[in-house]
Amino acid sequence: MKIAFIGSGRIGAAIAYTAALKGLAREIILTDISVEKAKGEALDIFQGQAFFPQTCIRHGEIEDTANSDIIVISAGIPRKADELRVTLLSRNASLIADITKKVVALSPQCILLMITNPLDVMTSLAYRVSGLPAERVIGMGTVLDTARYRSYIARQFHVDARDIDAYIVGEHGETMVPLVSNITIKGVPLPNLLNYEADAITRIANGIRSASSQVIALKGGTVFAPAIAACTILEAIVHDSRQILPVSTFNKKYKTAVSLPTIVGRHGAGPHLVFPMSQAEEDALALSIANIKKYVDEVDILY
Ligand code: 2OP
Repeated sequence: MKIAFIGSGRIGAAIAYTAALKGLAREIILTDISVEKAKGEALDIFQGQAFFPQTCIRHGEIEDTANSDIIVISAGIPRKADELRVTLLSRNASLIADITKKVVALSPQCILLMITNPLDVMTSLAYRVSGLPAERVIGMGTVLDTARYRSYIARQFHVDARDIDAYIVGEHGETMVPLVSNITIKGVPLPNLLNYEADAITRIANGIRSASSQVIALKGGTVFAPAIAACTILEAIVHDSRQILPVSTFNKKYKTAVSLPTIVGRHGAGPHLVFPMSQAEEDALALSIANIKKYVDEVDILY
């Protein structure tokens, strides 16, 4: 597999490093508006090569990404702790439209993995300008939020986060929807746990929206959780595992990209699963989709 990274900032470089450690690619190429940055990150990862699976790791220009199997796009302006992801819309939309057209022309068979915020709007935009089938334009979406959700639940109930089946769906943003009505631990409904407390779940679900801002306020930006979330998607593609992940893909019914539990494999992402939700969760998802759509319509006019 050849995996190209458009953007070698904190998150892009961390995803590349994690992918290298996991041996996900025969070739990894890092690009960035700052050539020195891309060069430095590629060199730094390469110098650890003695202790992870052999991979050709280098920096390059957009042209060097030709014939990539997967292209990870994290380029753009990152948000500050007190900023909403959608405030990045105008600054990142023109960049993403331009980059998407260039890289898809060079790698028409690629799968795009979108990281840039506002994630669902950028995923919708990339889908539209790329001309690729929806299943090959994947946004990291609420895979990251779901990881955080499961991590907090695991800490609260003293179980392995990898055994928890709990999802966040909708927008990777302020209107994300933590599903609480069907959380299971290895198939056992969460309320069956001896130390179950309903208000603990409510507290976690309400707090998860600010999880990212907490990290940004402390260290200037999120890195490791996004990196492992993105690499989980890359692994499902590379190994064709058909893992169910709440990635963001363009949904023809809703006419926008939105995160729903979806089968992810070498084909890309699809179909999504119709997940059991309470009426309150269905209503919250409808509001979340409407919120994303508002910004997608704004961008559609421009591009
Ligand atoms: C996050 O939630 C950067 O949007 C990303 O950490």
